[in-house]
Amino acid sequence: MSRTPLRIVVGITGGIAAYKAVSVVREFVKDGHHVDIIATEAALQFVGRPTLEAISRNPVLVGLYDDVAQVRHVALGQQADVIVVAPATANTLAQFATGLAPDLLGNTVLARRGPLVVAPAMHTEMWDNPATQANISTLRSRGVVVVGPGVGQLTGSDSGPGRMSEPEEIVAAAYEAVSGEAKHDLLGKRILITGGGTREPLDPVRFIGNRSSGKQAVALAQRAMQRGAEVTLISAHLEVEPPAGISLVSVSTAAEMHSEVMTLSPDFDIVIMAAAVSDYRMDSVSGSKLKKADNGGELHLTLVENPDILKELASAKTAEQIIVGFAAETATGEDLLRLGQEKLDRKGCDYLVLNHVDWNEGFGTDRNEVKVLSSSDDRIIKVSGSKLAVADKVLDTFA
Ligand code: CTP
Repeated sequence: MSRTPLRIVVGITGGIAAYKAVSVVREFVKDGHHVDIIATEAALQFVGRPTLEAISRNPVLVGLYDDVAQVRHVALGQQADVIVVAPATANTLAQFATGLAPDLLGNTVLARRGPLVVAPAMHTEMWDNPATQANISTLRSRGVVVVGPGVGQLTGSDSGPGRMSEPEEIVAAAYEAVSGEAKHDLLGKRILITGGGTREPLDPVRFIGNRSSGKQAVALAQRAMQRGAEVTLISAHLEVEPPAGISLVSVSTAAEMHSEVMTLSPDFDIVIMAAAVSDYRMDSVSGSKLKKADNGGELHLTLVENPDILKELASAKTAEQIIVGFAAETATGEDLLRLGQEKLDRKGCDYLVLNHVDWNEGFGTDRNEVKVLSSSDDRIIKVSGSKLAVADKVLDTFA
């Protein structure tokens, strides 16, 4: 990779995946970057100092009180173009989320000026624990890049989410984080993004919803903001925290989203409809809980169509505005492309981000694979990677 040499801090914390951090460091060094490794005491139980020093070609830093005269606990963070913590244990994530700095790594992370990339690795129970999930949400909302964890074989005989992402993915995320922070090509642009899944109430207790997590929309909002845009996110139901630093408008139903989008959109240069909008709603919502006993074994619901926000938006757009739609389809190959092309024509938007989805694909994952279709030419731009990387490349197509 030809790029200006970076100063990279690799933090290694105490987990079995620490051995994979060696490959992360090796990649950075191979690409010509300066790497300082900060290991916790626990990390050195898993991987030896000589290995890390040989690979990084630098002394491994551990103690907060070593070489205090160099004020290293502040200098390393201030000077780093990016800090990559791999593996990041549940305990480390909790420290970062609360701003605790009991060691050199904690201090360095607090004093940083550049982006922070963490690659969590832990047992599934620890990852699923609400405390860890809350910490992850907090970190994401502050712009920390969370890579993985992947799903797979863990240290014992068990498997599940918690496995540290592969070194190549972590390295790619670090480079993305650096370039994302450095680019300011959206300065002065106003971007309106919708995200998440709308919910159509049946009664005060139940709703019709969909499996959209809102992760791709949140990634778009985060990247657009980091690249200098003024971002408003109209969010339906999200499963991730939106980034700090954007304006947030919360809605629940398609009708509410319709109203907000139509009111706000005239003031924006770019509108990205990434939300999964319900096509139908109840013709009348019951004011009290629907009772099973009233339905004689079958429940018939009458649904009426919701307004097509994207279509209306595209027909009302000004010449300077760019309108971007999304399409999640279960079709594959040529059928997927044909459906995408038809949807682009039918909706009348400028771009359509086409996504293949299935029971286990597209929803709630941290990675994505999309094709961007344009109304002005036949080019099809294929993009894959983390949802942040996809967000960047999607923004590139019309930035
Ligand atoms: N969309 C919208 N208003 C709706 C439904 C969808 O603005 N009532 C937007 C979505 O935000 C997305 C695009 O339209 O950007 C495509 O959504 P999708 O659900 O794939 O399309 P549909 O219009 O539902 O078409 P179909 O039922 O044929 O898949």
